[in-house]
Amino acid sequence: MRYSGMPAFPAVASRDFLAWRRTRSSKPPCARGRPGRRMPAWGEKDGGLRPEEVRAVSAYLRELGGTMQEPDPHPPRWVAGDPSRGAPLYAANCATCHGPNGEGAEGPALANPVLQRAATDTYLVETIGRGRARTSMPPFRAGSTTHRQLSEDEIHDVVAFVRQWEGPR
Ligand code: HEC
Repeated sequence: MRYSGMPAFPAVASRDFLAWRRTRSSKPPCARGRPGRRMPAWGEKDGGLRPEEVRAVSAYLRELGGTMQEPDPHPPRWVAGDPSRGAPLYAANCATCHGPNGEGAEGPALANPVLQRAATDTYLVETIGRGRARTSMPPFRAGSTTHRQLSEDEIHDVVAFVRQWEGPR
């Protein structure tokens, strides 16, 4: 389920993951956390996961990742969208959950230096296109009664807009 440059544990903020975590009372897998996410930095006191916990986390994340198995043929940055077309699309389709300025709300912050560094363009395009199963993140390649469909070009425009929060690299 990982593209190169994809954060190692993309779904750690999902309700499923948090519920799972509570029931197994295992230590979460990420020692750093991300600014702007609900997830705090983990593993500072306890030295991280035991091997069986790592296996359980990996199995869970494989299951969550579902179809995102194929290797990424693209370089980390390849999207050539138009941020000025992406801005209104973001405002209409994303801002309620990710904040008007990407600061995060129900969804994680996208104006987040750790995410911006770690995420490849493919990661952003595919996350937007496919959504996240069992979270409120909708799959924008498909429309529904709760969200409109975005074309591939529109997804690229939204990614170009979101990348403006990356700042200088
Ligand atoms: C109804 C709420 C909702 C809407 C609308 C929504 N998202 Fe999300 N989004 C979420 C949630 C919740 C997550 C975290 C899912 C998880 O825990 O794995 C998420 C995750 C993401 C991620 C992955 C972030 C990371 O840290 O790995 C990206 C990128 C993203 N959304 C972009 C968008 C964009 C762009 C739009 C608009 C086209 C959008 N989302 C619309 C709720 C939403």
